[in-house]
Amino acid sequence: MDGSRKTTLETARLALRAPAPDDYMAFQSWCGDPENTRYMAWGPNTEEQTKEWMAQSKPGLDFAVALKGAGTVIGSCGIYPDDANHAGTLGWILHKDYQRRGYGTELGGELIRYGFEDLKLARIQAPCAAVNRGSYRVAERCGMRREALRRKAFWARVDKEWIDELWYAILAEDYFAPRDPLAGKTASVSVIAAEADTAKARGSGSLDVYSTPAMLALMERAACECLADTLAPGQTSVGIAIAAEHTAACLPGAPVTATAEVTRISGRRVEFAVSAETAEYAIGKGTHTRVIVDGEGFMAKVNGR
Ligand SMILES: CC(C)(COP(=O)(O)OP(=O)(O)OC[C@H]1O[C@@H](n2cnc3c(N)ncnc32)[C@H](O)[C@@H]1OP(=O)(O)O)[C@@H](O)C(=O)NCCC(=O)NCCS
Repeated sequence: MDGSRKTTLETARLALRAPAPDDYMAFQSWCGDPENTRYMAWGPNTEEQTKEWMAQSKPGLDFAVALKGAGTVIGSCGIYPDDANHAGTLGWILHKDYQRRGYGTELGGELIRYGFEDLKLARIQAPCAAVNRGSYRVAERCGMRREALRRKAFWARVDKEWIDELWYAILAEDYFAPRDPLAGKTASVSVIAAEADTAKARGSGSLDVYSTPAMLALMERAACECLADTLAPGQTSVGIAIAAEHTAACLPGAPVTATAEVTRISGRRVEFAVSAETAEYAIGKGTHTRVIVDGEGFMAKVNGR
């Protein structure tokens, strides 16, 4: 796979490039840190071990992870080939101060794109300690499937114990499969909170504030809007579940926007993350499920009850 290797890759916020000798101080700040390397198959490293690793790193397979613009080196990642099986194994580590900001998901997605589109791999896999939520969530968010849990297969070097290990993988056929046009789709609907939307007017409370039923109805409208241009003639959708928190109040006259994002599609059942906000602050969030039905058939069944 040498011919198709690239020494630099890019995401919206990150530049992935070959590690350079000047990166040593940054690398050692996580390679030498027991907390940062707790679930790595190596480390914590001595200075010599990090220098040795950097010297033998392979361009196009090992990458330093730098913030675009500032150039700050915040981690490293790689894709390690198994040429005989047309497969590659991913690895990633970010300095602890830069975790939980979506960088892991961003670089994971790019490594997978690189592996399939440039290196022409058939399979990309990622093992991790079963307790390493950050790592397995990155795999899941990047579309990898959990394939196996290997009991006590991982020696946790810092805690000095055998722990379970998960294997995740994605196949080229999964990656290149036509995507459902609904996957990840979002839609928003905006209204001005009306007097008729207040808790007092709706009978869901006694105050003149925007009511929970009005917020839920707006969230449902946003979900309907999301589905609208994907429905076949005669199809519509019915809400079957909604669970939301109403976290802040607002007054009639406030602009309110509800947003729905498709999070899961299972046959005719579609799940959404829903949220609502004024122009200034969030007022609610939750989950919602709708089922796509044939409008006439559905009404015939209801009328026949
Ligand atoms: C694994 C790692 C690269 C993930 O990168 P990241 O930038 O923090 O990940 P993201 O911000 O994209 O977050 C992905 C998900 O993981 C979660 N997550 C990230 N770090 C976490 C942690 N330490 N504990 C629990 N969850 C964590 C995020 O909350 C997010 O969850 P969500 O999908 O429920 O919203 C990073 O945590 C890391 O460097 N860990 C130490 C090194 C390591 O263990 N490498 C993997 C060895 S197999």
